[in-house]
Amino acid sequence: MRQKIVAGNWKMNKTLDEALALASEVSNMVKDEVNTDVQVILAPSFISLTAVGKLIEGQKRLALAAQNCHHKTSGAYTGEVSVDMLKSVGVSFVIIGHSERRMYFNETNEQLAEKTNLLLQNNIWPIFCCGESLEQREKGIHIDFVKQQLTESLFHLDTNQLQKVVIAYEPIWAIGTGKTASTEQAQEMHEVIRKHIASKYGEAAAAEVSILYGGSCNPTNAPELFACKDVDGGLIGGASLKSRDFVSIVKSFSE
Ligand code: PGA
Repeated sequence: MRQKIVAGNWKMNKTLDEALALASEVSNMVKDEVNTDVQVILAPSFISLTAVGKLIEGQKRLALAAQNCHHKTSGAYTGEVSVDMLKSVGVSFVIIGHSERRMYFNETNEQLAEKTNLLLQNNIWPIFCCGESLEQREKGIHIDFVKQQLTESLFHLDTNQLQKVVIAYEPIWAIGTGKTASTEQAQEMHEVIRKHIASKYGEAAAAEVSILYGGSCNPTNAPELFACKDVDGGLIGGASLKSRDFVSIVKSFSE
């Protein structure tokens, strides 16, 4: 059965001390309150990765993620962070292709294919984000757009590699806006994604891939979203900055 996952994307928030305080609260609550087999992932800024990694080291259910990596191995890329640097501080997941990075930093599907390859070579799981804009949804091209994102960045992988990718469907119009996708909209797109993967890799492989929902997910809407057949958890932005809200979301899976 595929892994249930809740990942907190802290984005450009929290100083080092604040990040440590939040990680420590989440870690304690997860230890005391979470009995389900859910993988909880924290994605602080690069600055806080090492310290947060040390704090959660050895904690059952908690793993460390970065919010980005560079698509080249090393070299003259001032200001960038490589995959093996991330590996050296205990990162086991990296969020790639977030819509904010595609939008503000012009990340392309081709670069994301390179990032995916580098991460998998280093035994780090990519959390690959995809999702359409409101305009694309209104024009009715959202399904083709998301399929194309997957095809262009992931479909060069072999089956074994593909099963080490986590997908996060994040409709851009739902991110940070307070507008969540309805359960019907989320389930529809998650099913589209799984069927698209199945069309290339077969149903058995597609059934093993965790597909997370992201976009204004909160403790109130998480239970119904996570109850959808093809929704395996969430990528949480705003609500991951408050330990109680985040851990409530972690506890939103029905047994
Ligand atoms: P949000 O962000 O939960 O604040 O909408 C989600 C994300 O961008 O990953």
